[in-house]
Amino acid sequence: MNKIIAPSILSADFARLGEEVKSVLDAGADWIHFDVMDNHYVPNLTIGPMVCNSLRDFGIKDFIDVHLMVEPVDDLVKMFADAGADLISFHPSATKDVSETIKKIKDLGCQAGIAINPAEEVLVAEQYLEDIDLVLLMSVNPGFGGQKFIDSVLEKISYMRNLIDKSSNQVRLEVDGGINPENISIVSEAGADTFVLGSAIFNTDDYSNTISTLQIGRAHV
Ligand code: DX5
Ligand code: ZN
Repeated sequence: MNKIIAPSILSADFARLGEEVKSVLDAGADWIHFDVMDNHYVPNLTIGPMVCNSLRDFGIKDFIDVHLMVEPVDDLVKMFADAGADLISFHPSATKDVSETIKKIKDLGCQAGIAINPAEEVLVAEQYLEDIDLVLLMSVNPGFGGQKFIDSVLEKISYMRNLIDKSSNQVRLEVDGGINPENISIVSEAGADTFVLGSAIFNTDDYSNTISTLQIGRAHV
């Protein structure tokens, strides 16, 4: 599975969001991680499907990885699929019927991901491993960028890596929160193949330099 760098736009300059997204993609990023927060499931409020649509209208053609930190989930799935999302991940505790939500995402032509918080067991991701395209392991508590990586998640990453390697379904293992040039190789060594970084990219002056440093780290040479 090739390794993916997915900048989280939560830390981007929202006054120039289109340019910011284009800059990180031109600088070598692979996906755009689009954090949706509803001030209900998490204590913060961010952006909706209109902004995803605007990025598509702006000319962004790259993979948009939508992370729904919302409750309930299902109504927003259709809106984001219509707005141009490529992948939609959600938190299982935020929906009444996990398999129904997965089916809804896939019926609308998007890839489906399950997001697990640091204190949650991976069991629910395990249960649906054959039905999903990505497991998102949160390495911070959801709601804000710029937090510190929670080291205890490393064990979960390795556990999940083993499970995925034994499964017949090639599922991506995404880690989200507190990743930076100093710890990305440890996260990669633990078994992640998809890396979400917000502040570690958008808080730097030279996105190309930052992303090439991260690309060396993710190969964990
Ligand atoms: C947090 C979001 C993360 C966050 C990552 O709830 O899901 O995607 O924006 O930001 P950093 O990399 O700054 O921790
Ligand atoms: Zn996220």
